[in-house]
Amino acid sequence: MTEGLGSWKRTHTCGALRAADAGTTVTLMGWAHRRRDHGGLIFLDLRDRTGLTQCVFNPAASAAAHGRAEAVRGEFVLAVRGAVARRPDGTLNPKLATGEIEVHASELRILNEARALPFPIEDEVEVDELVRLQYRYLDLRRPSLYRNFALRDAVCRAVRDHLHGHGFLEVETPFLTRSTPEGARDFLVPSRLSPGSFYALPQSPQLFKQLLMVAGFERYFQIVRCFRDEDLRKDRQPEFTQIDIETSFLGRDDFLALVEGMVAEVLRRVHGVEVAAPFPRLTYGEALARYGSDKPDTRYGLELADVTALFRGAAFQAFARVVEAGGVVKALRVPGAGGLSRKEADDLVTAARSYGAKGLVWVKVTPEGLASPVAKFLEPVRPALLEALGAGVGDLVLLVGDAMPTAALVLGRLRSDLAQRRGLVPTAGYALLWIVDFPMFEWSEAERRWQAMHHPFTAPRDEDLPLLEGRPAEALAKAYDLVLNGQEIGGGSIRIHQQAIQQKVFELLGIGKDEARAKFGFLLDALEFGAPPMGGIAFGLDRLVAILAGEESIREVIAFPKTQKGSDPMTEAPAPVSPAQLRELGIGVLDLGKDR
Ligand code: AMO
Repeated sequence: MTEGLGSWKRTHTCGALRAADAGTTVTLMGWAHRRRDHGGLIFLDLRDRTGLTQCVFNPAASAAAHGRAEAVRGEFVLAVRGAVARRPDGTLNPKLATGEIEVHASELRILNEARALPFPIEDEVEVDELVRLQYRYLDLRRPSLYRNFALRDAVCRAVRDHLHGHGFLEVETPFLTRSTPEGARDFLVPSRLSPGSFYALPQSPQLFKQLLMVAGFERYFQIVRCFRDEDLRKDRQPEFTQIDIETSFLGRDDFLALVEGMVAEVLRRVHGVEVAAPFPRLTYGEALARYGSDKPDTRYGLELADVTALFRGAAFQAFARVVEAGGVVKALRVPGAGGLSRKEADDLVTAARSYGAKGLVWVKVTPEGLASPVAKFLEPVRPALLEALGAGVGDLVLLVGDAMPTAALVLGRLRSDLAQRRGLVPTAGYALLWIVDFPMFEWSEAERRWQAMHHPFTAPRDEDLPLLEGRPAEALAKAYDLVLNGQEIGGGSIRIHQQAIQQKVFELLGIGKDEARAKFGFLLDALEFGAPPMGGIAFGLDRLVAILAGEESIREVIAFPKTQKGSDPMTEAPAPVSPAQLRELGIGVLDLGKDR
């Protein structure tokens, strides 16, 4: 029943024809999107990636073509030949770009048949994500998904054009390499030629791009896959793509200006949106204090306030004790939210606890005074509290007393939950924001040691260099993150380019001389061979595209993503391998059972 293309050539795509084409003979190819039998006439919507064209099969015009059209089922692959005609009055479809015309089919070729589909190819249908991923090639036929990939392509092209226009060279770096310390677990690849040894898939090209600067390349970029074995979320995949950039001889502000140019170009080209540069900047400390987050969504207000001073020695013992111990009391006023129910208030307390708070004080400002489980203890500070927050009747006030940054972080998460729930997040517009002056180090209680807040190659601010001796907690870094609508879309830093400082930072991180030599000897060597001042950034391409596409999850902009469990329901990766393959690699597999 099916046949080949023969000598047929496609003349138009399914989204191309307009009223002006009436009278021309065309050949279209695509998929049978929908078929309707109207007593004699068969209407067939033919679909390709550009759109739909209605084809009409009339037995009086061509009995053969009509006969074949009767056999067509959903997603059959077809070639249709016929004449373009204006649709009869009253049957125009303004929702369709081709809605003014139809093709009066004279010939039909069935190029391939299709089994009944697991789900219809429609944008509107809700399909279980596992099923979508199992048949991802069908899922990708949906026009909304195709649009995401066209957008992704446009973003990459704008990035490449912009960077090429500014003297950047696109260079590839190895996938089979050694561990890069970006803070996640490595994916390992066993070596057959060196049994017992492993490559690590790169968490980023960090070390290689620095070496390219030592090589004198000056301006490098790469749109590159990175691999991190970490807990997955809607904005995280085990393999994801970075726009990775490194430059030499630029100070932080000059570098940030260059990056702003690229981001502005992307927004201009893909959305026709002009964004004003320079982008606003907040220090990490300010972002935490005002928004309780190092990636605040600044499209809406709801800023946090610090009311620590009010509770020093206050009647409310819980907070007074926190303040005495050096902690803070942070407050969030939610205008007009004072009407919340007891259940909603309890849910907020539960959420705050799950975010790491010991508790949450909620206060409704009513005409009769404060309504709160601890109202009587708050009474002495009531006027000062309301004034500090600018709170009035009808407002809700949330208070968390704890050490920093916990108090701020908990309220920051409630801030974003409440903004979502109360519909305060604008759906249009882009809020770009640099977060700068991150601390160099953060203390890991679990490992009882300092960890690099960005990565170990990040330079301290010049004025903070002396702090590395004795007061590392206070040292700030030449690191920066770019935040778009509350998501971290990029992060980078000016690097350490002097061996002695690099060695010092390794020491502070508990990486001894021998370990540093063993792991990063090649970098330490390179720093001794005339390394220039350098700095760079990496953007999460998937996150950037997801935001521009208005998608919640980065899986919607990755052609073949993994599930939250890191598996691919289509290929069923990861999968066991044969004993022979393992033997060749010198690997035995332990049975770790369920309780690993
Ligand atoms: P960083 O680790 O901050 O920096 O990563 C840069 C950006 O990559 C994105 N990203 C991810 N996207 C999807 N899934 C993931 N699992 C994932 N992890 C990170 C984020 C993040 O902002 N080498 C440094 C950059 C530099 O210093 O130049 C680096 O990799 O959007």
